[in-house]
Amino acid sequence: MVDRKDLINMALDMRSRSYVPYSHFAVGAALLCRDGKVFPGCNIENSSFGATNCAERTAFFSAVADGEKKFSAIAIVGGPEGKAPSALCPPCGICRQIMLEFCSDDFEVILAKNPDDYQVFQLSELIPVSFGPGDLGK
Ligand code: THU
Repeated sequence: MVDRKDLINMALDMRSRSYVPYSHFAVGAALLCRDGKVFPGCNIENSSFGATNCAERTAFFSAVADGEKKFSAIAIVGGPEGKAPSALCPPCGICRQIMLEFCSDDFEVILAKNPDDYQVFQLSELIPVSFGPGDLGK
């Protein structure tokens, strides 16, 4: 069974795959599905800047493309390329909205510097008073 420390280690490994020629800020993510599978992600930047994809979205889109739609947790790590993270890397607003699309309020967002230094948040804490799939048609 995959635990939080495993997820953090997978996210840390993914930072080496980040494509970050503009910000030099490498982010890794590891998304745990309810069936136990893990989908990793890294940030992929673009010369247009706006077309940049965050590590979290890379992980979600790859999981959904593989047929997964039920998730229990994500570990996120980030910081200057080539250095160990020295601060937590909270997900951006767009990534929080993507989480909201597929995850319940108790989805765990694990923000880590390393496997021994992390904080766990519930999605509902990170995006309160949200607009999600259940609000359409009300
Ligand atoms: N980034 C992520 O991948 N995830 C986050 O949670 C925050 C920001 C990326 C986007 C961009 O490539 C770089 O970090 C700097 O913003």
